[in-house]
Amino acid sequence: MRIIRSQTKMSALSDGLKKKGMSIGLVPTMGYLHEGHLSLIRKARKENDSVVVSIFVNPAQFGPKEDLRKYPRDLGRDSDLCRKIGTDIIFYPTIKSMYPDMYVTYVDVEDITRLLCGKSRPGHFRGVATVVAKLFNIIRPDTAYFGQKDFQQAQVIKKMVKDLNMNVKVSVLATVREKDGLAMSSRNKYLKGVDRQDASVLYGALMNARALIKEGERDPGKVIKAIITLISKKASAKIDYVEIVDPETLQRVEKIRNRVLIALAVFINKTRLIDNLLIRI
Ligand code: PAJ
Repeated sequence: MRIIRSQTKMSALSDGLKKKGMSIGLVPTMGYLHEGHLSLIRKARKENDSVVVSIFVNPAQFGPKEDLRKYPRDLGRDSDLCRKIGTDIIFYPTIKSMYPDMYVTYVDVEDITRLLCGKSRPGHFRGVATVVAKLFNIIRPDTAYFGQKDFQQAQVIKKMVKDLNMNVKVSVLATVREKDGLAMSSRNKYLKGVDRQDASVLYGALMNARALIKEGERDPGKVIKAIITLISKKASAKIDYVEIVDPETLQRVEKIRNRVLIALAVFINKTRLIDNLLIRI
């Protein structure tokens, strides 16, 4: 396994692989890897001749009051994990090389980035789309792997790929969870003691919502109210949003039918957690 910092070297390696007719699978990450990331890397390993994992804590997707500086980092541990599951290349660029002085070009996917997380994190998806577009241009993967945990992010990337005619297949894989249902996330590291216990309420509330819908409830307002009631029982929890939306447009639905996405974001004290559930009726 190689760790590559230079963009030109990375592109040259990709060129070499392509010339040999080898397929490239890319897993973009911000590091501090957990089982969620590893599930993506394993899938990439199964489906491609070569696997690139990018590790880059992307400043462009953090707001001024967000956790860019304290975001967990551990390249030693990440590279051990990557090596063990058969990663070929870790692309680990510097901030200066990705965003040199006078950097001015950004990718703005409109509409769907203004909803859900986009409302409370203005500019976030612009940063995500920009860095992923850059990674696609540098590495030119055949397939890129994303997690359903960040459902809106995956939709934004799919839309960008379609609208900008990028020649990359986007594959979205199921959310990997802890035993108590909490969706794995690098940010779970911030959760200590009771906060960690309280954090499982997100999944509990989603499961309860699913049961209500199974029992026949079709009014999104009532399901949302039940979710809010459950989550509000935890003193540490502050709801950012709870919405039931169309999984394609991410617009709120008036009635629950066919396929809907229940999406939520909740602060457990200072840690903002997201989760979602796709429901098919
Ligand atoms: P990061 O949070 O490190 O996540 C990298 C990838 O792992 C994303 O596609 C995310 O959806 C997926 N992932 C995270 N937790 C998961 C879980 N519990 N189960 C399954 N997949 C999970 O998302 C980002 O980084 C960044 O925004 C990035 C796309 C790298 C752009 O900077």
